[in-house]
Amino acid sequence: MISNQGENSTKQLGSSKNNRGSYWITTFGCQMNKADSERMAGILQKMGYHKAEEELNADIVLYNTCTIRDNAEQKVYSYLGKQALRKKTHPNLTLIVAGCVAQQEGESLLRRVPELDLVMGPQHANRLETLLTQVDNGHQVVATEEQQILEDLTTARRDSSICAWVNVIYGCNERCTYCVVPSVRGKEQSRTPEAIKSEIENLAKKGFKEITLLGQNIDAYGRDLPGISSSGRYKNTLTDLLYFIHDVKGIERIRFATSHPRYFSTRLIKACAELPKLCEHFHIPFQSGDNQVLKRMSRGYTIERYKRIIDQIRILMPNASISADAIVAFPGESNVQFKKTLKIISDIGFDQVNTAAYSPRPNTPAATWADQIPETVKVERLKELNLLVEKIAKKMNSRYQDQVEEILAEDINPKDKTQLRGRTRTNRLTFFPQKGPKNFLYKKGDLLKVRINKIRPFSLSGIPLN
Ligand code: SAH
Ligand code: SF4
Ligand code: F3S
Repeated sequence: MISNQGENSTKQLGSSKNNRGSYWITTFGCQMNKADSERMAGILQKMGYHKAEEELNADIVLYNTCTIRDNAEQKVYSYLGKQALRKKTHPNLTLIVAGCVAQQEGESLLRRVPELDLVMGPQHANRLETLLTQVDNGHQVVATEEQQILEDLTTARRDSSICAWVNVIYGCNERCTYCVVPSVRGKEQSRTPEAIKSEIENLAKKGFKEITLLGQNIDAYGRDLPGISSSGRYKNTLTDLLYFIHDVKGIERIRFATSHPRYFSTRLIKACAELPKLCEHFHIPFQSGDNQVLKRMSRGYTIERYKRIIDQIRILMPNASISADAIVAFPGESNVQFKKTLKIISDIGFDQVNTAAYSPRPNTPAATWADQIPETVKVERLKELNLLVEKIAKKMNSRYQDQVEEILAEDINPKDKTQLRGRTRTNRLTFFPQKGPKNFLYKKGDLLKVRINKIRPFSLSGIPLN
């Protein structure tokens, strides 16, 4: 903790606990950060803060940051610049940087942006109240030390009232040579099956219908928990967890992300096919279509193994949708190797692929290698890849034409209030009229059948059957 001698040593807080002022949270990055933000918003609400109408009026501004690529990191500095200026005229503004940039940069963020009140790594998200108390006592606080993550004590303020994220494992023990995540998210920490189930039961009581279990490498779930069954098999795996939580009453759909091809097991695929609430969508990043590149990435699988996993999924769940992440222009990637990434995209037929050009990250081995690919080549390869991804996604989408899909209605379509929006089990965004052909008025939370009559590259429209 750093003591602040400066002007914000006495914060003007409202007199009533229910009116302490307003907060604003901007979230960058992945679902993990989104889940952390929802928990931090829950803590602020419990402390008596309310959500601000606008960022520039808020009393507390919190940026939950991402550093997966350089452009993600740079974004936060431009946001911070504006708030630092505002602080000159509004000294009571509390400025917080949370998440992965906070963990990566730590104290050096204070040197760069001295107006900051609090810098907190992702493992400290559940400690926001304690940290803010230290700030209120006049300190500039940096919280980045390795931390046993507290079991959630506060109810998250969720963005949706139907679908919820549920963290099951924090951190990552892999060492992919391009990736900053292990250094900013720390070692794997699994929550106990009991704690996870109890969170899901509470969500069901509040009317949530869908949950997505989250982990950077969700297949690693349970590795750090004790538990060997009488047959000598390890019993705290992701597959066991799915069976354990499956029957929570009120929850209609279960998803999980992100899967790692190295650990994705046949037993898991069978469980997904067998458990009715498990949705047929799998996000399994492959990163590159070339075995040599995969080796230099330290991914621990071959592209042949990856294909076998997809084949197994499709044998048991023929309509499953598959999405992935891919990186182009990893150090040393030749044109021939890049073409193999294009080939795997056509061969597999992905519903969606998140693509990126390789970006060197602090404290990662690949960033120090000499054979970096020039910027112009990165741009060209990414463009070529994106064109192909869109073409294949469109083609994959055509299989929904005239099909009847089960949709969970999640909310009103903000662009047309007579419509609802939801998703297929395979995770395709779908719009449909609130009023069915028999004048039944659907509402969010309903599970219904929709016949698809319009296909766009990344969404569908249809008419309810009833
Ligand atoms: N845990 C997940 C991915 C987490 S990061 C997994 O193992 O697949 C999300 C995605 O960002 C990665 O899948 C990768 O495609 C991309 N990514 C990570 N580091 C990157 C880097 N240095 N440059 C470009 N893309 C990167
Ligand atoms: Fe990064 Fe690899 Fe861990 Fe995924 S598995 S978060 S890519 S180190
Ligand atoms: Fe970004 Fe951190 Fe997620 S670096 S992708 S927010 S784990």
